[in-house]
Parts: sequence; structure tokens; C-alpha cells
Amino acid sequence: MISTITRAIIAVLWLAGCATGRSREGLDPGQVPAEVRADYDLFTLRCSKCHSLSRPLNSGIDDDQVWIDYVARMRRQPGSGISLDDGQRILRFLHYYALEQRRLKGGEGKPQ
Ligand code: HEC
Repeated sequence: MISTITRAIIAVLWLAGCATGRSREGLDPGQVPAEVRADYDLFTLRCSKCHSLSRPLNSGIDDDQVWIDYVARMRRQPGSGISLDDGQRILRFLHYYALEQRRLKGGEGKPQ
């Protein structure tokens, strides 16, 4: 039998998890340059429908071709709501993100 206390503890842990998991969901908006901001916004809208944004953002993918394949696969998921045009715009953000990932890995190597 699940007591009220257990439920309360679960609720608190869940809220705490949300609050501490990075700043919020996704990237710090200040980190995203103005020229990819609109594409990033579309990405946050379309790619958070079935899983959290950390799924793509923490996937470790830093290769454009892999992203092209993934976005095509996600677009084909039933009810994805991602149009061809959305896919192109999301790929523009993911291209920027892939470059950024490679830069971080190669350069100062900011740990994940
Ligand atoms: C309609 C639901 C849906 C939408 C919308 C969606 N995904 Fe997914 N995604 C899934 C499912 C289901 C899986 C797990 C199964 C799989 O790997 O194919 C998944 C898995 C993934 C993975 C694999 C993560 C891993 O751990 O290997 C990545 C990366 C990903 N999605 C990226 C995206 C991106 C980028 C978008 C936006 C363009 C997106 N997803 C939108 C359903 C969706």
C-alpha cells in the first residue's frame, strides 16, 4: 500500500529533479546565437513532444549526416507533427549544435 507520505516524497523528488536538471529543459537561451534562435525554438517545440529535449541534446551526436537520418526517422513517427520544412529548419539548428559539440570536444573540452 502506498502511503500519502510516500506519494508526497515522490512528488518532492520529481519536482526537485525538474528544478536541478540543468537550468530548465534544453539549452540556456543566452547560449544560443540570435541567428539560430528561431530554429532552436522550433526544435524545442517539435522535438519535445514524445521525449525530453535531453534525448537529442545529450545524445552525443555531432555528425550532420546522423542528424539528417534521425530527423527523417523522427518525422516519420506517427503523429510527429514535423513537416518537411520544419525538418529543414531543425537541421539548421542541429548543424550549429553539432559544430558546437565538436568545438567543445576538440577545444577546451568542457565536460558534459
Ligand atoms: C512522434 C514522437 C517523436 C517526436 C516528435 C520526436 N521523437 Fe525522437 N524519438 C521518438 C521515439 C519513440 C524514440 C525512441 C525510439 C527510437 O530510438 O527510434 C526517439 C528517440 C530519439 C533519439 C535517440 C536517443 C537515443 O538515446 O538514442 C534522438 C536523438 C531523437 N529521438 C531526436 C529527436 C529530434 C531531434 C526530434 C525533433 C526533430 C524528435 N526526436 C522528435 C519519438 C519522437
